Amino acid sequence: MGVGRIGAVLAALGMLSVCAASGSGHVAKRETGAEAEGAEPWDGAVFRPPSALGAVGVARNSGTRRPGREEAVDLPVLLWWSPGLFPHFPGDSERIECARGACVASRDRRVRGDSRTRALLFYGTDFRASEAPLPRLAHQSWALLHEESPLNNFLLSHGPGIRLFNLTATFSRHSDYPLPLQWLPGTAYLRRAAPPLQQRAEWRRRGYAPLLYLQSHCDVPADRDRYVRELMRYIPVDSYGKCLQNRELPTPRLQDTATATTEDPELLAFLSRYKFHLALENAICDDYMTEKLWRPMHLGAVPVYRGSPSVRDWMPNNHSIIIIDDFESPQKLAEFIDFLDKNDEEYVKYLAYKQPGGITNQFLLDSLKHREWGVNDPLLPNYLNGFECFVCDHELARLDAEKAHAASPGDIPVPEPHVAQLSHMACPMPTPGFGSVEEIPENDSWKEMWLQDYWQGLDQGEALTAMIHNNETQQRKFWDYLHEIFMKRNQNL
Ligand SMILES: *[C@@H]1O[C@H](CO)[C@@H](O)[C@H](O)[C@H]1NC(C)=O
Ligand SMILES: *[C@@H]1O[C@H](CO)[C@@H](O)[C@H](O)[C@H]1NC(C)=O
Ligand SMILES: *[C@@H]1O[C@H](CO)[C@@H](O)[C@H](O)[C@H]1NC(C)=O
Ligand SMILES: *[C@@H]1O[C@H](CO)[C@@H](O)[C@H](O)[C@H]1NC(C)=O
Repeated sequence: MGVGRIGAVLAALGMLSVCAASGSGHVAKRETGAEAEGAEPWDGAVFRPPSALGAVGVARNSGTRRPGREEAVDLPVLLWWSPGLFPHFPGDSERIECARGACVASRDRRVRGDSRTRALLFYGTDFRASEAPLPRLAHQSWALLHEESPLNNFLLSHGPGIRLFNLTATFSRHSDYPLPLQWLPGTAYLRRAAPPLQQRAEWRRRGYAPLLYLQSHCDVPADRDRYVRELMRYIPVDSYGKCLQNRELPTPRLQDTATATTEDPELLAFLSRYKFHLALENAICDDYMTEKLWRPMHLGAVPVYRGSPSVRDWMPNNHSIIIIDDFESPQKLAEFIDFLDKNDEEYVKYLAYKQPGGITNQFLLDSLKHREWGVNDPLLPNYLNGFECFVCDHELARLDAEKAHAASPGDIPVPEPHVAQLSHMACPMPTPGFGSVEEIPENDSWKEMWLQDYWQGLDQGEALTAMIHNNETQQRKFWDYLHEIFMKRNQNL
């Protein structure tokens, strides 16, 4: 699984690592990416790293070693276990300089058993319980980077899955190295002026609907099409993607899915004709917000949003988006959109955050100000390198604490273990986009796929936890453990 994905990541990282290696600060850039409208990454078919992964590496001078520094031989080693996500180039290992000191980052799996290897780094989308490195060594932390959709790996949404890890960087604000704003470059991105209302009124007269839908990944846990289909009964929606398509983008170039996945100016200009964009994430989880939310705001459209239940916490003010779940039915939502569509004065209130001083949410402003990584920002590290340094610093601190304990075991206790919490992901069980589970026939593809997938994630987390607990050394026994857990669960039904 994931060969194409790994190739894409390598390509992206190969570019971004050039500047880290040369230390000259010259900037390697790749295209600004939006999440694929065509095929969101989830099963290894397609992988497109989000834009932040494509940004520039941590600027540092790796060529010149300052005198008096420890040799690399003594440094803690961080081993990137997931293939394809090694943010350095060329070679298999690299000395990195972080706030507390230096570490060696490596992708050479042969160092796994080494006593200096203090942390294994995993990419959530690629993490397979059946392939986890066993036996788990007590002196090694497991670190998880998972900024992508929860649907890529539901194992991580359950306690037994996430608690396998010691350090996390996820989209959740509660993770150790939080990435909730990974798709928001900054306040200027939100402030960009909206097209004049007269222009949009003209487009409406030319037959465009008030609402846009552009989605080509149709069978997703959030089951968004079921809702949109219902909404379409009450208000016109122009749908251009593969899901519920009822119109075609105007030119072959725009119809090309490769264009739809970029910040292509022609595409953006076209999309900005719409006053409202249906913005439904592919999976529901606190703090999981993507370009589906931020891009309409950039374009001066009002997102009609379903996704993170805590989205309000991040909005520029308390009147910037329409939240689908505030409405008791698609019909009520349609009536409200229709009302705004006909009342410019009420509509423009949703764009007030674009005015000077209009971004009043201090939590949002502070979060943007204090994050150390940037989104396509040549002056800031990307979060991949940022997290690597976070792990390095954590391990240096842990080593110091262990040394202090060893020097005076009577006075200084053994350092406390640090284990990830359920809140670092905790995405809820998928529910139907419209209606109740009981109303949906058993042979419905959503029902067949996602509920099973979600609960299998729990079984897999429990199986691996049991293996680690038993000091299991043989990976291939995973299926026996899984079978046993499955049988136990079904006995208790
Ligand atoms: C929204 O913000 C405005 C201005 O800050 C405030 O007066 C109003 O009470 C807020 N409304 C809600 C529902 O929080
Ligand atoms: C890492 O997490 C595991 C639980 O998954 C825990 O048993 C272990 O003590 C933790 N290690 C450290 C160094 O905190
Ligand atoms: C599901 O079952 C119903 C009735 O049993 C049938 O009419 C329908 O065609 C089936 N749908 C699919 C997708 O198999
Ligand atoms: C696993 O190994 C640890 C450390 O060697 C030991 O304390 C523990 O009892 C072992 N657990 C089992 C179930 O064998």
